[in-house]
Amino acid sequence: MEKRIINKETSMMVAIVGLGYVGLANLMLYSSKYNVIGLDSNKEKVDCLNNHYFLEMDEKVAKCLEKNSSMWIATTKYMEVYRKCQYVIICLPTNYDEKTKRLSTEIIDTEVRRINNINREAVIVIKSTVPIGYCKRINNKYENSIISCPEFLREGRIYKDIFYPSRIVVGGQKDVIYKWLKMVYSCIKNKKQISTFIAEYDEVEATKLFSNVYLAMRVAYFNELDMYAESNDLNTRKIIQGVCADSRIGDYYNNPSFGYGGYCLPKDTKQLDAEFGAISHNLIGAINLSNEQRIKYIANIILELSAEVIGIYRLVMKSDSDNFRESAVLKLLKELSNKKEVILYEPLLKEKEYNGIKVISSFDEFSSKSDVIIANRLSKELDEVIEKVYSRDLFEYN
Ligand SMILES: NC(=O)c1ccc[n+]([C@@H]2O[C@H](COP(=O)([O-])OP(=O)(O)OC[C@H]3O[C@@H](n4cnc5c(N)ncnc54)[C@H](O)[C@@H]3O)[C@@H](O)[C@H]2O)c1
Repeated sequence: MEKRIINKETSMMVAIVGLGYVGLANLMLYSSKYNVIGLDSNKEKVDCLNNHYFLEMDEKVAKCLEKNSSMWIATTKYMEVYRKCQYVIICLPTNYDEKTKRLSTEIIDTEVRRINNINREAVIVIKSTVPIGYCKRINNKYENSIISCPEFLREGRIYKDIFYPSRIVVGGQKDVIYKWLKMVYSCIKNKKQISTFIAEYDEVEATKLFSNVYLAMRVAYFNELDMYAESNDLNTRKIIQGVCADSRIGDYYNNPSFGYGGYCLPKDTKQLDAEFGAISHNLIGAINLSNEQRIKYIANIILELSAEVIGIYRLVMKSDSDNFRESAVLKLLKELSNKKEVILYEPLLKEKEYNGIKVISSFDEFSSKSDVIIANRLSKELDEVIEKVYSRDLFEYN
């Protein structure tokens, strides 16, 4: 369906490249005030968006995109997009490359080269998480102005995090940054409270990686605390409450789980480990190892329970998540299904089988067939069968 962008108040045209998690959040943000063209190589995704088919999306995001639908359009045709726009916001994937042991920037490299060939006036804003040194390198190589401004979104909180960001960390040429920030401030809803940090490109990129790695470390820490307590028959909840009453530690982000997962924490932790190179370090490299051990530990505990059929309740990592990519539960599923009969309850799945595991769509059938129910996060639905449930969710928040 072709739509026309009709906002007459502004001639500003923003392009968002990569309409995944981060790209759609940015599409939502900028289209609240400006004309936006979203670019993605996935034609099916582009068609769905243009037809307002937002079914698998966070409800608030879908509603907001619908509301601003006269302000944006999606396409696969980069030429027309790059020719027209003043700003290109890069939200492309940077997957971890097992061979180079680094985040791959190949996809971004191609797009930046294209933009440079088509429109050297366009300001390129890098939202993707990149290796330290990346923006400095492309800034030296190409004529386009480059802004580095990593995204700090949490799963299941996209709407809040994009309109009320915790902070803006940004690098680039000062006059270009100030002009761009003006536009961002006109879209966000907490402009009066927000802290903006302007730094060198490398410092901005390091801030993103060190932030994510701190979060991974905190999850691993509370999970190790839980393994110690459970193995010694101690009450994890009481220990965490006592530890976290210290305001330096804080009573938040401390709920044990089966491990961290998702797209970012595992890969960003590996990237930061690689960034250290020859610099002496032990902690960063140990975090992913600790997380892998956690999953094996949980699998062993479950396998020791006298259960013939193990029911996995949800693949999502958080109760309000809309996806389960690289979730720790997937790894757990792999460990368990090699050794026992496993069944799965995940309403996000429409298929009857997932990786050879039977998916049961009725919760009642799932719970009656399971001898034990494994839940990374508890929910009200489990209350009636709680005696069957194994979980390390002690505080019932994410
Ligand atoms: N997911 C998060 O919560 C989060 C948070 C902060 C930062 N980041 C970072 O932001 C970046 C994007 O992450 P994401 O989660 O949005 O990724 P994603 O996989 O959800 O989305 C990437 C999108 O880019 C599209 N794409 C791939 N190659 C393309 C190309 N050549 N041209 C146009 N489109 C292309 C894909 O079809 C997909 O829609 C990554 O660097 C990630 O580390 C992610």
